[in-house]
Amino acid sequence: MIQVEDIIVEYQKKFGEISKCEKYFSPGRVNIIGDHIDYNGGYVLPFALNIGITAVFAPDDNQELSIYNLDFNEVFTVEFNQLEKTEIDVNWHQYVLCSLQQIKRNNFKLRSGKIVLQSDLPIGAGLSSSAAFICLLLFIMASDYYNTNRLQLALDAQKVETEGIGVKCGIMDQYVISMAQKNHAILIDCQELKHEQIPIDLGKYQFVIVDSNFPRNLSDSQYNERRKECGSALAAVKEFDPAEKLVDVHQISIGYIEDDTLYARAKHVITEQQRVLAAADALNLNKIEYLGKLMNISHISLDEDFEVSNHALNCIHHYAHHFRQCIGSRMTGAGFGGCVIALVEKDAISRFVTYIGKKYREDQDRDAGFYLVQPSDGIRMM
Ligand code: GLA
Repeated sequence: MIQVEDIIVEYQKKFGEISKCEKYFSPGRVNIIGDHIDYNGGYVLPFALNIGITAVFAPDDNQELSIYNLDFNEVFTVEFNQLEKTEIDVNWHQYVLCSLQQIKRNNFKLRSGKIVLQSDLPIGAGLSSSAAFICLLLFIMASDYYNTNRLQLALDAQKVETEGIGVKCGIMDQYVISMAQKNHAILIDCQELKHEQIPIDLGKYQFVIVDSNFPRNLSDSQYNERRKECGSALAAVKEFDPAEKLVDVHQISIGYIEDDTLYARAKHVITEQQRVLAAADALNLNKIEYLGKLMNISHISLDEDFEVSNHALNCIHHYAHHFRQCIGSRMTGAGFGGCVIALVEKDAISRFVTYIGKKYREDQDRDAGFYLVQPSDGIRMM
């Protein structure tokens, strides 16, 4: 875990003494179940992680924002009168610029100053490092407003991603980062933008995240294509099914979709939606073994019907499935690389890590990363 005191030390080394500063934490997220459902208007069940981005901000009057990103050992400065600059080739600089442009569009006053930040989230691993970063920047720039308008924070952060960065993502990541509560998963209704906090009590089990270290990049991936296919699947049943959203299409209707690919996409969305609601019930009733089963079926659906898994994720899922004290696992997030979330007996975790680590290395010639995570609060000032 990153200590904010260490970041203050780095701040002083880089920028000199500070008398007072603000401290922030923006978590990553993991989705227990319900992937590629948010942009289809359904329910998803993620939680915020106890790993994320820790930041220190000290305001000044220089009319610019400097960010010292310790992960890249690099400082990026934006002068406020150059905000419309468009020639940006470094990925994280673009996130900064687009976030500041969003603050300006909202007619909030830009806060001049210096930020030093560090993340213990693996970057681009499907744990929402980018949503955590955008939420953090917006939150620092207008913490008074966003602290009490958290839905707006989620919506504005999503806008930065979709309109600024160009990834047509749903609302799940930004919503959970904005709204999460410690020891709870959050059942988000992505159509109505409402949620319910679901207590997580896993008894003798614990969530373990396995990072495939297979890099993924949302904008390069087939994410936008999947979105389009879902739109086409809905259009294909429009004539005879009154549903407005793909999650609401009747299961019988999809039998009439002639295109095999669109049929498979719709099948995933409709069945995954049922699994999310069943998983929320399972958590509420402490039926953790059942939750594990739902996770396993979800993985197969994402692999075979939605085709967003890959050999690295399948390898982890396969061996996790063979490990007796792991009662469920699935790829999580957008897919095409990234992470698997597994439910493992606490007593067996160290054996699980050794076993999966070894099998994965043998099969994929790559090391896996492991994170023992706890459901944490959403973005906050510390
Ligand atoms: C990414 C997107 C989310 C969601 C997931 C898949 O994380 O940002 O909006 O669509 O993929 O469930």
